Amino acid sequence: MDELKTNVLYYGDNLEILRKYIPDNSIDLIYLDPPFSSKKDYNIIFKESTGEQSAAQIKAFSDTWHWDKSAEDTYQDIILNAPPKVAKLIDAIVGGLGRNDVTAYLVMMTICLVELHRVLKNTGSLYLHCDPTASHYLKMVLDQVFGARNFRNEIVWAYTRPGTKHQKQFPRTHDTILWYSKSGESWMFNPDGVRIPYAQSTLDRGKYSVATSKVTKGISKRVLPSGGKCPEDWWQIPMIQGNAKERLGYETQKPVALLERIIVASSNEGDAVLDPFCGCGTALVAAQKLNRKWIGIDVTHLAIAVMKSRLEESFHGIQVDVIGEPEDVMGAKALARQDRYQFQWWALSRIKAKPFPEERRKGADKGIDGVIDFVERDDATSKQAMKRAVVSVKSGHVHVKDIRELKDIASRHAMGVFITLQPPTKEMCTEAVSAGSYHSPLWDRDYTKIQIMTIEELLQGKAIDMPPATSPYAKAPKVSKKEGEQIALEGSK
Ligand SMILES: C[S@@+](CC[C@H](N)C(=O)[O-])C[C@H]1O[C@@H](n2cnc3c(N)ncnc32)[C@H](O)[C@@H]1O
Repeated sequence: MDELKTNVLYYGDNLEILRKYIPDNSIDLIYLDPPFSSKKDYNIIFKESTGEQSAAQIKAFSDTWHWDKSAEDTYQDIILNAPPKVAKLIDAIVGGLGRNDVTAYLVMMTICLVELHRVLKNTGSLYLHCDPTASHYLKMVLDQVFGARNFRNEIVWAYTRPGTKHQKQFPRTHDTILWYSKSGESWMFNPDGVRIPYAQSTLDRGKYSVATSKVTKGISKRVLPSGGKCPEDWWQIPMIQGNAKERLGYETQKPVALLERIIVASSNEGDAVLDPFCGCGTALVAAQKLNRKWIGIDVTHLAIAVMKSRLEESFHGIQVDVIGEPEDVMGAKALARQDRYQFQWWALSRIKAKPFPEERRKGADKGIDGVIDFVERDDATSKQAMKRAVVSVKSGHVHVKDIRELKDIASRHAMGVFITLQPPTKEMCTEAVSAGSYHSPLWDRDYTKIQIMTIEELLQGKAIDMPPATSPYAKAPKVSKKEGEQIALEGSK
């Protein structure tokens, strides 16, 4: 295995990526926020051309687990190859609870945690973010993988939500974060980096002095550290609000402040932070901000595209490498065979197109896979107007009728783009040319109305000849790098 590469995003299943690319004892801190067993699809919301986030949601991933062949194979793998005490526990859990959705989820998490334990340095820590649906099972698994004596904290991240009128139980308003260190002797903990202000009531009690030891009227005061107190194991950090600048529309996005606290507490500048379920990349943004190195893994091209764009917008001049995406036509073919949607999302992200939601692909818009919006000038009013290029992506055989269909859809829009893995036929090229051109009043020039681009050309870096497009993702705020500074967010006691 090569040396550890950092500041890199990996596309793929984390187990495969960990086994292929991440050496033993190489990571200082792991944060993971796997999809819970909550039987929900998480959605990613793209920005509308009006700048608002809309109902244009695309399923980013599904966290519904089923006991299928892959769960059975993973279970057998654990029984045969995992450390014996881990295998015994999983055997007992599956024996007791049966082969069902929850045990499918646990089996997948167990094999991943065994691998994460391998890549962690002896001084390293792992923070597993989960919720009460599965935290009790996951803690048992972690006790076996890491050793119960290496359990450091169960952190409760508490937030508030308005209740509903007919509440039948207390609202569930906390997540659980389980912290384990790899060794019981030495691990990183930096309380000075995460101190929060003392409550005024503590200071008013008169029993304490801050930082300097004093004797007042014969009463010796307990000395409290300067800079505030170390937070307890329950943290009140607000969830990302609907109008928050950092909100990208990724349903499971976590606040940067939460990740900053974890990273400052359990790593030093220059350390390597790994997030194997990195979603829209909150842990990576926090790591970059705090001068740590980072590695992100995600199994959807949508997440990789959102994350890349978020990191590039947040940090001026940052270099974000992506590994695991197709680099040649063979790789693109392999991706198309493996998963047609991932292929489509990858191709669309390469041309900065926004995927077009499945539920809208009906009637006249049936053949649209993606759209690219751009700013234009309305000829009649001379005002600014948004225009659209519609995109069709094909991984299989292509035919002149595909171009006719695109021509028809594009007749209601400014332009049409046809992305194809197979080379187009002469007939297709002729049909595309027959659509003529689109005249841009703003740029005062003509663009070919229907453009065909092969995946090979796309990989060679050929761009679509069209007016400058707007970004398909919600804009991430600029982030300035700082040194281990933690924002105090909670009213402490
Ligand atoms: C709950 S989200 C993480 C959200 C993240 N903490 C954030 O703030 O944006 C979980 C992510 O794990 C990814 N995922 C699920 N299974 C995976 C796997 N086997 N390998 C890699 N990523 C996976 C999903 O695509 C999803 O983006």
